[in-house]
Amino acid sequence: KSLNPLVKLIQKVLQENDPSLKVVFAVGAGISTSAGIPDFRSPKTGLYHNLSKLNLPYPEAVFDIDFFAKNPKPFNLLCNELYPGKFLPTKFHYLIKLFHDKNLLKRCYTQNIDNLERLAGLPDDKVVEAHGSFVKNHCIKCHEELSIKEFRSFLVKDEIPKCSKCKNYVKPDIVFFGEALPHEFFDKWDEDLSDGIDVCIVAGTSLQVYPFATLPGETPDSTWRILINREKCGDFEMNSRKKDLVLLGDADEIASMLIKQLGWEDDLNKLLEN
Ligand code: OAD
Repeated sequence: KSLNPLVKLIQKVLQENDPSLKVVFAVGAGISTSAGIPDFRSPKTGLYHNLSKLNLPYPEAVFDIDFFAKNPKPFNLLCNELYPGKFLPTKFHYLIKLFHDKNLLKRCYTQNIDNLERLAGLPDDKVVEAHGSFVKNHCIKCHEELSIKEFRSFLVKDEIPKCSKCKNYVKPDIVFFGEALPHEFFDKWDEDLSDGIDVCIVAGTSLQVYPFATLPGETPDSTWRILINREKCGDFEMNSRKKDLVLLGDADEIASMLIKQLGWEDDLNKLLEN
């Protein structure tokens, strides 16, 4: 399918100078793979395929809170590899930033923990990190906070970060399986739903992890739902709608096409220069 309906919709709104189009992004690991961060479930290249060296009982155990309490080593190895600081935003991240700059972005819900939405320039109130982030670290037992500096000082020595109070393990505030998502995720989503969502752009996610995967299905039938992904998945496959647009391919390539068709290339270049 072509990008045309989406391009036309956005152009119409921009021409009418109507600031009321409400676009929400719901994204996952596939928008960051071109930054050099592997996704989770892609065959061969995905993280879960390549975890055999960690001797896990099953791949998702690396993000399982009960497993971590017994054996924090595998997560720690991964933590070192994935720690933010060495990766740069992709074209797709800048596409989201352009939506924000054009006053079209209502919110960006991300499952990613790489901080690249913020690095691309999205302000705090526009990003909801549904699966948490590396910004803070807490003890898994007494919940005492450990500063990033102290946390990092353990990691560089290849040691498991420990609580300064009770000596239990400390992990970043990334949502593990068995843990609740941040309140903000539910609160902001309720707020956005009741305010209205005109376009929901779902990108780079297999829509296999809940409750995040329910988002596209919770939008009303009046919402345009766009899937930008290598594969068709989730609600787009199981409950497809009239106002769905499925764009299969590489997220950056589709972002480039969209930016070109919308005439936003100069704006993108300015972002990249800064
Ligand atoms: P997945 O690895 O499950 O899915 C990534 C999706 O992106 C797949 O459908 C890929 O085909 C697609 N993809 C990969 N590279 C792409 C590219 N360059 N362009 C377009 N599509 C591409 O990742 P998520 O759905 O984000 O949880 O995984 C959800 C959660 O599962 C993660 O947040 C993580 C994991 O367990 C936690 O860490 C708590």
